[in-house]
Amino acid sequence: MTDDTFALLPDYRKQSPEVAARFQKIKEREVILRIENLTREFSTEQGTVTALRDIDFQAHRREFVCVIGPSGCGKSTFIRLLAGLDYPTAGRVLLDGIEVDGPGPDRGMVFQGYTLFPWLTVKRNVMFGLRMQGMGATQAEREALQWVELIGLDKYAESYPAQLSGGMKQRVAIARALAANPRILLMDEPFGALDAQTRGQMQSHLLQIWKHVDVTILFITHDLDEAIYLADRILVLKANPGEVNEIIEVPVPRPRSPEQFVSPEFLATRRRLEELIHPTAGRREERLPIFKLTQAGDEVE
Ligand SMILES: Nc1ncnc2c1ncn2[C@@H]1O[C@H](COP(=O)(O)OP(=O)(O)OP(=O)(O)O)[C@@H](O)[C@H]1O
Ligand SMILES: [Mg+2]
Repeated sequence: MTDDTFALLPDYRKQSPEVAARFQKIKEREVILRIENLTREFSTEQGTVTALRDIDFQAHRREFVCVIGPSGCGKSTFIRLLAGLDYPTAGRVLLDGIEVDGPGPDRGMVFQGYTLFPWLTVKRNVMFGLRMQGMGATQAEREALQWVELIGLDKYAESYPAQLSGGMKQRVAIARALAANPRILLMDEPFGALDAQTRGQMQSHLLQIWKHVDVTILFITHDLDEAIYLADRILVLKANPGEVNEIIEVPVPRPRSPEQFVSPEFLATRRRLEELIHPTAGRREERLPIFKLTQAGDEVE
């Protein structure tokens, strides 16, 4: 991409009437998740680390939010606080108006590692949460099979996780989390361990599944394209301390498709994320030494 191409890109804040109408609709929906002044400090031998400071954010029903930021900016801490696996130093998280105080069935979770029970079949993995909630075996099996069908793995219902590819395992993990009917799905780099091609397929699968489910998604990634492809809004954090840098309304229309990766709105959003996350990456002085080395034959030796 040349500087000239960038000069021609639209402003990432400019929305087509269609996209603006979609955001208007989202904002009219109820607020499911309310994050108020969320702060988390850790005491370490080197002193106090402020992983997150004064995060204020709200997500609406059926909204898809991606969280992005440099390594160590507090993304995993953030999602752990939302999950109730950790407690804030200050501030609070409200889900449907109720303060989060520990894990609960209203939040589903999918993390990077494969977290399926290896001794249970696909069907039984999906049934697990339903049974834990007290659902009878027959109904749990019926519902689990519907989920397995929705993720396109009906042929594998009786297979064990070890017999599945990485992408298939993560599909089962998503189905298992959603089967329990959570209000919000928390995902921390769920496709981070997959190869690029499988990752792309998983992104499309996730959007397909989400279309059928009334759930708000909070998805952490460090992949800029993934964030733009999936999100309604992107919460950009900055590091040390982890604070809100910017909240971007993605101007790319839905339904999304991989061809949009090269659309002007997509590229404009990507350029903005680059500026926010790798602020020095495009500067001429950062590139010069490499240019010098590759041009000077002697020095390359
Ligand atoms: N239990 C802990 N004790 C001390 N410091 C911690 C703890 N957990 C996280 N931190 C620190 O808080 C900061 C944020 O960590 P966190 O894991 O949330 O970042 P992240 O954005 O998820 O990073 P990555 O992109 O590498 O996954 C880091 O400086 C980290 O060292
Ligand atoms: Mg992390």
